Amino acid sequence: MSETAPSPTPAPTPRPARVRPGAEALFGHLLRVSQALAGQLDFQTAIQAVSDGLQPVLPHDHLDVCILRHDHHVAFEAGAHTDWSLTERPMPVSMSPIRAVLRGEADHLMTGDAMADPRFHFAGAFAHPIRDAALRSRIHVPLLVRGEIIGALSCSSRERDLFTPADIPFARHVADMLAPYFFALRAAEDTRRLAIEEAEGRTREEAFREGALRLTEELERERQRIGMDLHDLTLADLTRLSRRLARLRGGAEAGEGELAAVAEELDRCIRELREIIDDARPNVLQLFGLAEGIEDFLGRALGGGATRIDWRFLNGGGAVVERLEEPLRVALFRIVQEAVNNAAHHAEPALIEVELRRQGEALVIEIRDDGVGFASLAQRRRVGGIRNMQTRARLVGAQFQIARRTDARGTLVSIALPLGERDGREDAR
Ligand SMILES: Nc1ncnc2c1ncn2[C@@H]1O[C@H](COP(=O)(O)OP(=O)(O)OP(=O)(O)O)[C@@H](O)[C@H]1O
Ligand SMILES: [Mg+2]
Repeated sequence: MSETAPSPTPAPTPRPARVRPGAEALFGHLLRVSQALAGQLDFQTAIQAVSDGLQPVLPHDHLDVCILRHDHHVAFEAGAHTDWSLTERPMPVSMSPIRAVLRGEADHLMTGDAMADPRFHFAGAFAHPIRDAALRSRIHVPLLVRGEIIGALSCSSRERDLFTPADIPFARHVADMLAPYFFALRAAEDTRRLAIEEAEGRTREEAFREGALRLTEELERERQRIGMDLHDLTLADLTRLSRRLARLRGGAEAGEGELAAVAEELDRCIRELREIIDDARPNVLQLFGLAEGIEDFLGRALGGGATRIDWRFLNGGGAVVERLEEPLRVALFRIVQEAVNNAAHHAEPALIEVELRRQGEALVIEIRDDGVGFASLAQRRRVGGIRNMQTRARLVGAQFQIARRTDARGTLVSIALPLGERDGREDAR
């Protein structure tokens, strides 16, 4: 065996032998760390201040504090920045290489070479930062507040066997000093986050209330419009007809031509009345159901030939579609109606497709056109129709999206209605 045999991963040149300061000097360092820490109001600058202050007494290439949040944790690092702090989401404690300390199963961990120490490399461990940053010597102690573990302090060096058991009490002192500080930072951050969530919730609620109000106003306007149509068209026609009939009854014998004119007027009046009613209430929807209602509407709106827009209806919704409660069917129908009208009016499409299909636990309705494509809401002067679709979807608990298509030219409107219990009833049949 040769003493000069190269090691598989060459360690950096060792530092000069460590001189351990006496108790008084250690106390002085702790004081300086605490002074450096004071006034730091976020985790990142706080850990950096601690790292700088500790360097002379507890030399390290990497220092991190991880903070528990329920059964997850987040890390803040000084020195090398690794995936421990760069991952966006909190990590489950079960994946932490130092989970024994975080769970209170070990009151500290110390190793001379973490890259080879099996305690850090169990199955599922999030341990690759140890290799990425070539961390060898490591000490880990818990951060305790009123006996509760709120996280851990980890001090690491690329040098092998740098720390000795004599470093552990000092690391503990540092951890005890940091714990209340980081506890307060965590509490402050929680409060800030809660305030933000609350404000966001309020904004969403407000937008929803505004939407519902607009919809009610729209319904009221619609009611007035129908009233006016009935008054101006049908009522006026009927009055005229009634006068003509009264004249015929009281006067001379009615000729063929006179009667034919009355009959024709009566027909026109019936047609107008039907149009007004069809417009106000999706008739086919009540008689036949949602799928046929949509198909009938597509035929009437686009099938006339005047628009020169092709349409296709793909119905893969199954029986559940027709068992939806009436208000739900009307809401979905109205959304489809507005989306199709928008596509026809704004997109200059050759083809509009409406598809009903089951996707997992949801009923999905898609309205696709191959037209000019939808620009963001910010660029739109009018958004009333889109807002109404959003509000209607929200009122029935469905998700609504409108966006440019990614598979082709044009716009995609999609509605996803979770079926919940309705789903089960279908299977039970
Ligand atoms: N399928 C689509 N393709 C291209 N642009 C669209 C499409 N759907 C909507 N838009 C654009 O979004 C805008 C807003 O639509 P919205 O339905 O809110 O209002 P509108 O149709 O202009 O008016 P209203 O629906 O109140 O009669 C439209 O003016 C149009 O510019
Ligand atoms: Mg519109």
